[in-house]
Amino acid sequence: MRPTIRRAVIPAAGLGSRLLPLTKAIPKEMLPVGDKPVIEHTVRELVASGITDITIVVSGGKSLIQDHFRPNPALVRQLRADGKTAYADAVEEVAELSRQGHITYLDQHGPYGNGTPVLNAAHGIGDEPMLVLWPDDVFVAEVPRSQQLIRAYEATGCPVLALMPIDRQDSARYGVPVVQEDLEGGLLRITGLVEKPKPADAPSTYAAIGGYVVTPAIIDELREQTRRWYEHRTGEVYLTDAINACAGSHVVYGQVISGRWYDTGNPADYLTAQFASALAHPEYGPLLRRLARDLGDNDRPGTDI
Ligand code: G1P
Repeated sequence: MRPTIRRAVIPAAGLGSRLLPLTKAIPKEMLPVGDKPVIEHTVRELVASGITDITIVVSGGKSLIQDHFRPNPALVRQLRADGKTAYADAVEEVAELSRQGHITYLDQHGPYGNGTPVLNAAHGIGDEPMLVLWPDDVFVAEVPRSQQLIRAYEATGCPVLALMPIDRQDSARYGVPVVQEDLEGGLLRITGLVEKPKPADAPSTYAAIGGYVVTPAIIDELREQTRRWYEHRTGEVYLTDAINACAGSHVVYGQVISGRWYDTGNPADYLTAQFASALAHPEYGPLLRRLARDLGDNDRPGTDI
């Protein structure tokens, strides 16, 4: 029987340079979207999808992530003593996520590139597949994105990439899959991924959006790339290269995710995600809608912050 997916890795060692200076002291994973930091959305999605073994791969300067998920009994005691039950519950709920997802932290080590944290976290994984989620994307979906990826893996037994439709003009921001066959339920058979092509060269109008089911065949490719890197000390170790190498000899799928997708990795998309989550807030949403209507398209003096 196919091993089911219980492991996930969240690479969180990046510099967040596209969001500087906001991310100079605050890890980009800790920037709020709505009333939660981005990475909490990712962890909630994984826990809701039945993942029980989450590795967050970090680097120096990321201790706020650990602080966020770590239980803080003294704070909870104080809040309860002060009768601030809702706050105490909210603090405990975050620590509970860490318990349910068995979050562990790993220091990233090895060559530069987004394949390295994946290989770091795959140590000792044997034949198990695992999920890889970049902590830049937030999904609002009836079935969590991770669950949609797990289902695609369970149906195929092959590596699966999370995809979303994009406008062709945005292709240079993403890995764009080469689609061989459009199967049902948003499942696509793909033969590779072209990294950040110009619109005219984009092989399709889908983007890989930082969610992957990685199988041992891809881990083997990452290991091989890393071995070569240590031999020549040039280039970087990229997940896309490993997927492309794997697609040469294995079947690889893409799953078009149903749901609403917010990228938070650059200023424009981050602001959009914040705005959308604020508008959707049950209590404050109506207030903000009124404010947005009131401000309209005008630049009114005194209304900018
Ligand atoms: C990475 C991947 C790219 C993918 C993107 C999604 O690029 O290499 O294929 O489309 O994440 O966020 P990055 O944004 O790290 O440059």
